[in-house]
Amino acid sequence: MKVSVSILSSTIKPEAIVKNLDKTDADYIHLDIMDGKFVENKTWTYGEVKKIISYSNKKLDVHLMVKNPEKFIEDYAMLNTESLAFHYEAVKDVKKMIELVKNYGLKVGIAINPDTKEDVIFEYLGDIDYVLVMSVYPGKSGQTFIEDSVEKIRNIKSEIEKNNLSTLISVDGGINEETANSCKEAGVDILVSASYLHNNLEENIKTLKNM
Ligand code: DX5
Ligand code: ZN
Repeated sequence: MKVSVSILSSTIKPEAIVKNLDKTDADYIHLDIMDGKFVENKTWTYGEVKKIISYSNKKLDVHLMVKNPEKFIEDYAMLNTESLAFHYEAVKDVKKMIELVKNYGLKVGIAINPDTKEDVIFEYLGDIDYVLVMSVYPGKSGQTFIEDSVEKIRNIKSEIEKNNLSTLISVDGGINEETANSCKEAGVDILVSASYLHNNLEENIKTLKNM
């Protein structure tokens, strides 16, 4: 199982988390970018992000919770970024946004909110690298996993298999050992987690990795 560590925390400084990540088996740093418009909260400025991530060599998995995500691609493509996901709900022209991200040589993902039905993205599954299923309402860490997300993952997985695609599924929000297990059974490939991991970083990353 791939594990992406979200560095969003209300209690621990992101630098402190990042400084410990290279000693762990984590696959990615999950970078949550919020603009105070698409979601209420705001995360770091670009300058702050560059400083925070400078303490680790891990690749970045960028999650843009912003309006007009096309304006953010260039900046975030310049970092140690492997993949970038934008929200389906934040763009008018999904195809155009997919192409823009790909033009920067990044893997591209579409994130969908809990209230967005999964079938709206089925037509794009062949053009993207992953779907990011939000299992909480985007905006903050520490929320409870929305159980309906498991069924959503199962439906997306079955559409991927039906069409012989290699698109991956990532899940983000309220992931712990138990919810991760349900998501795994439904077909998830990448687990994103913040609060559960930060309780005991090395140990809990291992637990999710070994699922
Ligand atoms: C929520 C963010 C998540 C969040 C996950 O809007 O996209 O990445 O940090 O935090 P936990 O794992 O605590 O739900
Ligand atoms: Zn996220």
